[in-house]
Amino acid sequence: MSDIYRDNIYRNPDQPTTEFVFDRQVARVFSDMIHRSVPGYSTVINMIGVLAGEYVQSGSVCYDLGCSLGASSLALAQGITAKECRIVAVDNSPEMLEQAGRQTSQLALSTPIEWLCADVLDVQIGNASMVVLNFTLQFIPPHARLQLLTNIRKGLRPQGLLVLSEKITFQDPGQDRLQIEMHHAFKRANGYNDLEISRKRSALEKVLIPETLETHRTRLAEAGFGRTDLWFQCFNFVSLVARP
Ligand SMILES: C[S@@+](CC[C@H](N)C(=O)[O-])C[C@H]1O[C@@H](n2cnc3c(N)ncnc32)[C@H](O)[C@@H]1O
Repeated sequence: MSDIYRDNIYRNPDQPTTEFVFDRQVARVFSDMIHRSVPGYSTVINMIGVLAGEYVQSGSVCYDLGCSLGASSLALAQGITAKECRIVAVDNSPEMLEQAGRQTSQLALSTPIEWLCADVLDVQIGNASMVVLNFTLQFIPPHARLQLLTNIRKGLRPQGLLVLSEKITFQDPGQDRLQIEMHHAFKRANGYNDLEISRKRSALEKVLIPETLETHRTRLAEAGFGRTDLWFQCFNFVSLVARP
């Protein structure tokens, strides 16, 4: 991936803080933004590639739902060893997809990526051996989350795998405060100042709705997943694998 621009979106205190959207301005700096904001992001992306090598089955489809610039799609494409697979990468931000397509068009991938501009809630999942929701479910209205997970579960092959990565909250207020403090320390260490951190937090408040790990586990079970395992956590960011 090239075209890395520094995220300074919330640096200027004179600009009004408006609700966060995945528009052209965000797409342009997104790679820098997510690496400096999500602890363990590179590890999660790398492991999606490792899991693809292990779990993707021949002749199946992989879905990257909320693909942004395609980091997970690319990890899937590079990790898959099974034959005759394809990857469907979905996002409803045309600006994200435009850049994703441009940045990957020159790459020779043995598993092709199809870019689809659509709402993930409208996508028909079928014949899937691996589905990735990498920090996307948190942006879906909570009332629609069960429907999305049920749709994914129905479209997964019996040995299939869902990777679900999310920012989470904690029921215990002390633990929640501590995890947020540590996350903010991570952001400061990556060059964001306190004002930027606070303005981004306000912009995301009504857009990114995190939930507890327990809520995720309960909903996954309700959607028909037989087991869910936590494989990664850094502060208030986790990644789970769920299987039918
Ligand atoms: C935090 S980013 C995901 C990061 C990406 N999965 C990665 O690993 O780099 C969330 C993405 O989900 C997309 N998104 C949010 N709601 C969506 C929806 N209802 N349908 C499709 N895409 C959606 C946004 O446009 C954004 O690109």
